Amino acid sequence: MEKKIIVAIDGHSSCGKSTLARDLARGLSYAYIDSGAMYRAVTLYFLENGVDWNDPSTVGQALQRIRIEFQVSEAQNQTLLNGVIVEDAIRSMRVSEYVSPVSTISAVRRAMVAQQQDLGRKRGVVMDGRDIGTVVFPDAELKIFLTASTEERVRRRYSELSAKGIHITEEEVRANLLDRDRIDSTREDSPLKQASDARILDNTFLSREEQYSMVMKWALEAIRS
Ligand code: DC
Repeated sequence: MEKKIIVAIDGHSSCGKSTLARDLARGLSYAYIDSGAMYRAVTLYFLENGVDWNDPSTVGQALQRIRIEFQVSEAQNQTLLNGVIVEDAIRSMRVSEYVSPVSTISAVRRAMVAQQQDLGRKRGVVMDGRDIGTVVFPDAELKIFLTASTEERVRRRYSELSAKGIHITEEEVRANLLDRDRIDSTREDSPLKQASDARILDNTFLSREEQYSMVMKWALEAIRS
């Protein structure tokens, strides 16, 4: 039987990590795990339940009450928070605004990383995030650091939100992206950085098909090596 690997995809916000990860997981018949959705679900729980995330003991208690699961279907991966589908709620601007600060909390990271490592125990997963190749799976057989120009990322995110009927200006989208980039890259605990053995892929001028075929080639090489 063919060897199963772990593919780790890291990069800044809105550079197309989830599109690539989903395409690749489908092509390899692997599971796709969106680690950002987990941090978003925690943030949603904190906001909905008025959890004061500056208080470590409150955070510790809240984390024990949070159960995150993924429901995989043909059409889409759905994120469940304590049994309820929250896929749309975790993509709201309100969650986007607070998810980076919440993700700086070490207790939150420890809980999420343990769950992510567990999901990858049998390998055969494509996971995207910020610290997948550096912290979650430093032994991943294929690590990709995805980048795209800021203008292109703003354009993609803006059209994604507009398509969903979310009214927001391009300026607001840019401010949120740059703010998250800054917090994610400068936090003390597992900041976003390129793993030394990651392949860098700038997809600013690549089509979805072009990036897929490049990465699929790398994945097959890693599986066969
Ligand atoms: O991938 P995303 O934009 O949905 O992620 C939302 C936030 O979650 C991101 O701004 C930082 C945090 N995150 C993280 O700290 N570590 C990860 N592995 C994935 C996401």
